[in-house]
Amino acid sequence: MKVAIPKERREGETRLAATPETVKKLVGLGLEVTVEAGAGAGAFIADAALEAAGAKLAKGAKATVEGADIVLKVRAPTPAEVKGYKSGATLVAIMNPYREADTIAACAAAGVDAFAMELLPRITRAQTMDVLSSQANLAGYKAVIDAAATFARAMPMMMTAAGTVAPAKVFIMGAGVAGLQAIATARRLGAVVSATDVRPVAREQVQSLGATFVMVESEETKAAETSGGYAREMSEDYKRRQAELISETIKKQDIVICTALIPGRPAPLLVSEEQVRSMKPGSVIVDLAVEQGGNCALSQPGKVVEVDGVTIMGHLNVPGRIAVDATSLYAKNLLNFLSPLIDKETKALKIDLGDEILKATCLTHAGEVVHPQFKEAAAAAAAAAQGAPPAEEGGE
Ligand code: NAI
Repeated sequence: MKVAIPKERREGETRLAATPETVKKLVGLGLEVTVEAGAGAGAFIADAALEAAGAKLAKGAKATVEGADIVLKVRAPTPAEVKGYKSGATLVAIMNPYREADTIAACAAAGVDAFAMELLPRITRAQTMDVLSSQANLAGYKAVIDAAATFARAMPMMMTAAGTVAPAKVFIMGAGVAGLQAIATARRLGAVVSATDVRPVAREQVQSLGATFVMVESEETKAAETSGGYAREMSEDYKRRQAELISETIKKQDIVICTALIPGRPAPLLVSEEQVRSMKPGSVIVDLAVEQGGNCALSQPGKVVEVDGVTIMGHLNVPGRIAVDATSLYAKNLLNFLSPLIDKETKALKIDLGDEILKATCLTHAGEVVHPQFKEAAAAAAAAAQGAPPAEEGGE
């Protein structure tokens, strides 16, 4: 079976879906691995290293994916890229399904079975495959490093003969995977750290990292966590009370790291323009939620802006800013997802869509969109691509 790893073609994507280490393991599973020449440049992986690990090199996307049974990617391919895949191929990537219905539709039309890594259930068996965790952890770290590099003051307290330098005050909004790593990183740099979340269980995790936890507690927060471990969207009343707490807290902070997300929904808006303007000049906000609309009203996707002396960083693809480690962990996540699917005897793919992990991640199968959450949007995208009005859903 041929596994293809084409170069990532989305703007600004530096990561790759394989490393020499995972290539070696894939070859060990009896697979034939083809990597597009030059694909590892963004993550400093040389063609020669991939070749030495057992990969074949191909020139250009077409030759790389031609006849491939499995295509491994970081980001979803564009519909045009999907057209080059063979019918019956299996595609595994971060598919961005809530936003890229056109790619889901293109996969169904091309007979490509697409699996979205970000839809993995958060069960113990899937932990080694969890791309959201592996990438968010690095993003949380990098956000603090980016902020510290821009901040015109020091992070730790320093007592010198010339006087004392006060430690930076860092506030982390959203204490999930990215937020907890941001807390740990800021603490290591010597900052005084506080954090907030809507899930009460975050309190203990935040405190165990040596940070102060602040939150609006109410009856509502008891049910703020879904069975999947994610946050729910809060009521208008809660948002108003949370805004009051943020107004009080944020004006005393030097650095704010925003990480709050709600799966499948726009990111909650937590920092208003007024609150930004209440901060001291020289303060820094890093908005990791910018791709989902942002937690800060003034952050702009892909831009670093300054408002009243406050720098607001809206870098896109923050894991891609730490591409070597992000690639290494992502490639291992993919390997851990794929390995159990390869039959040891026949070396062929054996996919049981009744399996909890595969059922949750499978978007398309045998020419159909099978994931109930994305059927409607994919049908509308397919109809739009053909210039026709969307088809009736037929009671789905
Ligand atoms: P996420 O990326 O969806 O959200 C980030 C954080 O923002 C979450 O902690 C969420 O509660 C918070 N948030 C959402 N709306 C908010 C608001 N209005 N105000 C303040 N904070 C808000 O979540 P992430 O980081 O992917 O993880 C969520 C939970 O899942 C964490 O507790 C994590 O430890 C847990 N987890 C469990 C795993 C497992 O295998 N059991 C694996 C990875 C994470």
